[in-house]
Amino acid sequence: MHYRKHIFCCVNERTPDHPRSCCYARGSVRLRTYMKKRAKGLGLTDIRINNAGCLERCEFGPTMVVYPEGVWYHYETFEDVDEILDQHIIGDEYVHRLMLEDGQAFPEPPAYSRLKLRVSSVESSISGTLRVEFVNAANHPLPEFSAGAHIDLIIEDYGFRRSYSLINHPRERHRYVIGISLDCEGRGGSKWLHDNLKTGQTIEAGHPINSFELAESAASHLLIARGIGVTPILSMCHRLRELNAEFRVHYFDKSESDGAFVEELNDACGEQLSCHYDDGHSDHRLIAEKILSNSPQGEHLYVCGPLQFMDDVINAAGAWPKKNIHMEWFNRRVPKSKRNEAFYVVLARRKTVLRVDANESILDALKRADIVSEHSCEGGLCGVCRTRVLYGDVEHRDMVLSNREKTHEKLMMICVSRAAAGADQLVLDI
Ligand code: FES
Repeated sequence: MHYRKHIFCCVNERTPDHPRSCCYARGSVRLRTYMKKRAKGLGLTDIRINNAGCLERCEFGPTMVVYPEGVWYHYETFEDVDEILDQHIIGDEYVHRLMLEDGQAFPEPPAYSRLKLRVSSVESSISGTLRVEFVNAANHPLPEFSAGAHIDLIIEDYGFRRSYSLINHPRERHRYVIGISLDCEGRGGSKWLHDNLKTGQTIEAGHPINSFELAESAASHLLIARGIGVTPILSMCHRLRELNAEFRVHYFDKSESDGAFVEELNDACGEQLSCHYDDGHSDHRLIAEKILSNSPQGEHLYVCGPLQFMDDVINAAGAWPKKNIHMEWFNRRVPKSKRNEAFYVVLARRKTVLRVDANESILDALKRADIVSEHSCEGGLCGVCRTRVLYGDVEHRDMVLSNREKTHEKLMMICVSRAAAGADQLVLDI
């Protein structure tokens, strides 16, 4: 059912002693319950009244927002509730005395800050992979990153954005180094970068994001990569070396000449490195089983490479505790659930409600409405489109968010994840 109006009331009732519980202390639960009863008594079956957790307008006490017009109210008494129902919901006239002021109610979405980088060198390896170094175009130190992190290169004029792992030592602040392999069957981003990146050129990039972190306190680390999947592993090796940690690396490729970063890998790993050159005809699962059979208790596994390779290694580690397995997908078709259903998204900051059809993502719906939202891979892999959910149950389909980010921080990836089956709406912090 499509409701004529949605009303979201802040009801932070689960944690009354939480610092943000002023709406609770000031009666938001009582007021919301009264509102529901009163609306029912008035026969208002075409409106929906929901709890919305914390709406982050705590300085005002209990607040509510009415969609689709996106009017925010702060209310303190049963009389306030009556007035909102009678005057606004039934009479379609706003209750000005209770409305929050514009600036208070609708803060601008946070600007996604970008970096301006200058290409300081571009080298092509025998295998054709580009090794690109960037410095800060303003000659300042670059933002810190941790081992396994990536940055997004953003080419606005050509409408694309691609993620690349940082391969240099995470301690370095004077440069970012990435490897770009040419994907002839991809969407054209790597081809454009191969054809156009030149020394001295400036380029926009996102801040480093890490969806593939080292568990630094683990007893030992086993890193397995194939081909260009070695890039995040490189920065991990630098860091593990620095920590003096127990680790070993298994690197797979067709041949030594195909490996773009073997020399750097050798330098970073020394005796900890084993290379497997197989002309592409190995039974990775069998080899991985052998490697894993020597793993000491509590070892953590890190895997990166082509899809089939990763599946083989991860399957070989089937009996390992999930928390000990870390992976980074460069591409993956996120399975579409048969249960895809249309639902509505309420964009809390924009006062807008959008329908998301069964055959599109939230990101598609935003694009259709000409609403710009940061994104990159559109496959639930890169972490760029993460969005806070203010209300509603989500079916998470991404490969990057941790359980904590999903449940405590209420984040979702709007390029792939949807409202959970049976839930007909989500309220997003957009
Ligand atoms: S755009 Fe990459 S996770 Fe959504």
